[in-house]
Amino acid sequence: MRTLLFLFSAALWLHGETGYDAWLRYAPVKLARPLPATIFAADDSKSLTAARDEVVRGVRGITALTLRIESSLPKEEAIVLGTMEQIRGLFPQSGWNQSLDPDAFWLRTLTSGGVRYTVVTGGSDRGVLYGAFALLRKIATGESVGALDEKQAPYAPIRWVNQWDNLDGSIERGYGGRSIFWEGGHARQDLSRVSDYGRMLASLGINGATIDNVNADKRLLSDEYIPQVARIAEAFRPWGVRIALSVDFGSPQSLGGLDTFDPLDPKVAAWWKQRADAVYAAIPDLAGFVLKADSEGRVGPSAYKRTHADAANVVSRALAPHHGVLLYRGFVYDHHMDWNNPKNDRARAAYDNFKPLDGQFNDNVIIQIKNGPIDFQVREPVSPLFDALEKTNEAMELQVTQEYMGQARHLVFLAPQWREVLDVVRRQNRKLRGFAGVVNVGLDDNWMGNNLSQANLYAYGRFTWNPALTSEAVVREWTLQTFGSDPRVVETIDAMQLGSWKTYENYTGPLGLQTLTDIVGNHYGVAVEASENNGWGQWHRADARGVGMDRTVATGAGYIGQYSTQVARTYENLQSCPDELLLFMHHVPYTYVLHSGKTVIQTIYDSHYEGARAAEAYVPQWQPLKGKIDDQRYAAVLAQLKYQAGQAQVWRDSVVSWFLKESGIPDVKGRAGHYPGRIEAESMTLDGYSPVDVKPWETASRGKAIACGQAKCSASTRFDGTAGWYDLRVQYFDQNNGISHFRTSINKQVVDEWDAADRIPTRKMDGSSSTRREISGIALRPGDQIMIEGTPNGGEPAGLDYIEILSPPAKAP
Ligand code: GCU
Repeated sequence: MRTLLFLFSAALWLHGETGYDAWLRYAPVKLARPLPATIFAADDSKSLTAARDEVVRGVRGITALTLRIESSLPKEEAIVLGTMEQIRGLFPQSGWNQSLDPDAFWLRTLTSGGVRYTVVTGGSDRGVLYGAFALLRKIATGESVGALDEKQAPYAPIRWVNQWDNLDGSIERGYGGRSIFWEGGHARQDLSRVSDYGRMLASLGINGATIDNVNADKRLLSDEYIPQVARIAEAFRPWGVRIALSVDFGSPQSLGGLDTFDPLDPKVAAWWKQRADAVYAAIPDLAGFVLKADSEGRVGPSAYKRTHADAANVVSRALAPHHGVLLYRGFVYDHHMDWNNPKNDRARAAYDNFKPLDGQFNDNVIIQIKNGPIDFQVREPVSPLFDALEKTNEAMELQVTQEYMGQARHLVFLAPQWREVLDVVRRQNRKLRGFAGVVNVGLDDNWMGNNLSQANLYAYGRFTWNPALTSEAVVREWTLQTFGSDPRVVETIDAMQLGSWKTYENYTGPLGLQTLTDIVGNHYGVAVEASENNGWGQWHRADARGVGMDRTVATGAGYIGQYSTQVARTYENLQSCPDELLLFMHHVPYTYVLHSGKTVIQTIYDSHYEGARAAEAYVPQWQPLKGKIDDQRYAAVLAQLKYQAGQAQVWRDSVVSWFLKESGIPDVKGRAGHYPGRIEAESMTLDGYSPVDVKPWETASRGKAIACGQAKCSASTRFDGTAGWYDLRVQYFDQNNGISHFRTSINKQVVDEWDAADRIPTRKMDGSSSTRREISGIALRPGDQIMIEGTPNGGEPAGLDYIEILSPPAKAP
């Protein structure tokens, strides 16, 4: 029976992991030295109990042994958990002469009365909890825990996640399913997912979470909602995660019924105080508020000609008696800027708004500044505001949810990007008060919509604890815990993760062009011109003659002048400006020669081909992991990588075609505009299908595709190549307003059929919906008839762009 059970659980491991346990799977590991058999927690507070139970759970997973829980200090080898004060009481002779910050921990092996103990202590219950997770991390990654003496304190006190959840259960920029907090306008009845999320956050040392959209819903501060917020706070509490609320600056008027929300009006101040008191009465450990004001349509102090300091101070004064903090967003800009004026520049906005107010903010105000001056683009310089504020608290905002980074459909590991930003801030000798990470987990089994994307949350958390960690160390820890220690698995996944940001940059927007996505729409697929000719200010100013935003002091928008003299000099000067930011800082002709020795235009072509090739290679890199990790996650990731390879090609072709047409300069390698093996759908023999112009034009091959306007249509062509084995690629459009059915046949023999049922954020044929189906290993003979049949559904017309017939080695141009 026992053997059967064991076999059953081993089989379960291989075949079915959803990703729900993320890096806290506690899979079996061979230990150098056996662990103690007992555990004792010095008291039964919720966090200490959570810590103790976590250690029991972890050890059971890793060793298949269940620790005995003791209710007093055992006289045998044991793991002992307690705050510093409690541990001092238990082991008075053991030299606990140092104090610990509340969130710090100390792992120490000691002998007392001839018995050896593994002590996990912290400056507070929360510190102990963090220590317990640190101990488990060591065990799970194969580190020895036989002789410990390790103290760790977090870099900064504020280590928050921001969730952009709406009360109706949707999540702004969430790619992992619906809200774990809210549904139908109320807090969910079942908040067990919140508790499990708290556990994941605690394992990284994250101690705060907003639970509502930064574009805040005023109702949360109402008497009706405060008890619901309190329930959510309770679910997080054992894990040391304090909640915070995003608030709306207009609330004194819109919710409170005052005739004003002027921050200098005493009635308004009294309203904020009264609301803060009410929230704190229900949630005494609330961490504070987050406030987005005067940005992207949110009201703010400008309505009364007041400053951001006036706004921040009135709200923060209400929080101060409760020791709450206000994270005031530095993400303030005018999204109706006149794009014809070359001196206008969104990148300037944060500095222009906040620098003049330096020193005017209350002590419990922290300016929450996005890593770059625009908005989580694939490549941006570090925001100049970090270095500019001398007398104001700062927190760095990073985005874990991959809004502009492939929305969890693309593998993009962001630690290397964050590493660069953190290094800059470190060199500036900046001491941040903390971090806010926009995470947006949801109800999907694996929280984030993609198993590999979990590494971003992991890295974010580890960096908030210790911003000096390397990306390599962080990803290694993550992979070991998430996928196991098989060397092939670890090397493959680490390499894929570490190279993925650069790859994504290569096939989206290199040279500081930013992510060339549909910025007025879903921020997902390619749309090169979407950022131009509008007030949003994500301009790249590419035209027939040249490309890039002139942000120089000498001739441009002057943004570069916001940096310290030395940095400004580097960026201002074309010769010293780094290639990867060139087009963020300068407008140059396409023929401008970079440090690399290549022209700008050729670099654009080359990086897109290089990026798409690297994305294509993920699939064969992943395939050898079959059988080395569980089947379920293996298959889920494989499907995602195949999809990504297809999308990378869409990006490549779209951007390259656009720049080829605009610049008129050919690709010296002859690839741009030439697609070996490609047959345009509009040139096939059509039955029921009609050609359509796709918008934007560059997102379909030659600007055209075909759509089916009747119950069923077909497109066919005769193969006129040489006989052999081929891979067939069908490029179709998978919108989210229908589930079309496709069928591919060769001489009436059906070789593949599928539903276009993916969750792609678009209702039309464009760069987002363009999707690839690959049918490999097809034997073709001259004269064969290849037919694609499409059955539309709902608003989706079974759109087709082209097919490609490739002999396998020629797949990646
Ligand atoms: C981005 C994002 C918005 C969000 C905003 C913010 O612009 O697209 O959804 O509200 O950032 O950070 O406030």
